[in-house]
Amino acid sequence: MDRIAVRVRRIHNETDDVRVFELASSDGQPLPAFSPGAHIDVHLGDGLVRQYSLCNGPADADCYIIGVKREPSSRGGSSALHDLVQEGDMLQIGAPRNNFELRDTAGHYMLVAGGIGITPMLSMARHLLARGASFELHYFARSIAQTAFHKVLSAPAFAGRVDFHYALEADAVRSKLRKLLWERRANAHLYLCGPRPFMDTVQDVASATWPPDAVHLEYFSADANALAAPCASFVVRLARSGGDYVVPAEQSIVQALAQYGVAVDVSCEQGVCGTCLTGVLAGEPDHRDSFLTDDERRACDKLMPCVSRSRTDVLILDL
Ligand code: FES
Repeated sequence: MDRIAVRVRRIHNETDDVRVFELASSDGQPLPAFSPGAHIDVHLGDGLVRQYSLCNGPADADCYIIGVKREPSSRGGSSALHDLVQEGDMLQIGAPRNNFELRDTAGHYMLVAGGIGITPMLSMARHLLARGASFELHYFARSIAQTAFHKVLSAPAFAGRVDFHYALEADAVRSKLRKLLWERRANAHLYLCGPRPFMDTVQDVASATWPPDAVHLEYFSADANALAAPCASFVVRLARSGGDYVVPAEQSIVQALAQYGVAVDVSCEQGVCGTCLTGVLAGEPDHRDSFLTDDERRACDKLMPCVSRSRTDVLILDL
């Protein structure tokens, strides 16, 4: 995939563990356009690629802004950005992609963010504000000090549209969500992003009153339970390029095919970003990703080969 060289124009800390990077064109050419909810791949060397949502609003069209939380369990991405990247440095990124688009036709937008899940929501809120759309943003955080973009979202322009919810225990989060989501305004759509347990709670509460096609979400991290499930070997058959290849229990489909010289485009390699999406022509996938919707999983006509496996002995792929 094409890469874009950008210059780190500005860095600032939003909280003790969230650092914001402003990435500008390195050659004066405009950066590719994006829509709210989009993310970029950031290439950090040695094959390390991480995805970060853009926080931009329409007023920041000349750069990309990402907010990066230092994760204690970092696999290298957030610590590399926090510890090694300085203002003026060059970075390689991918063009923006959007798996989390706002529906233009919604009558009302309910945005719910937990912690660092605020990053795509901030972009959405900024765009909706500029459009004069009907929306509200509910932002759950541990404390004011740990609330990234608190100052931006406390500006008068957001008054009456943004509510902060601090230091709530799990039961209190659930009860607050019940109140917020009990009534669904006409043609309202719900967008949520945050840590997986938080998103599970929001989805669970929303399921009482919101139809599935009005609920939109994006995961930042892999489904650890799905990835920890037992693995067995199976065969993938490549319909277009030909050949049967064994995928051993200890390798992903992507890894196994790479050994035979068959390259599949990947980015997160965690089943989150959608880059490796591959068609399935026969066989039943064992989905272990966090990208496909439930309907897409049931259709059994595509899978994410960076993490997903097969329930049948042979899986025929559109490769
Ligand atoms: S590489 Fe991101 S989902 Fe497979």
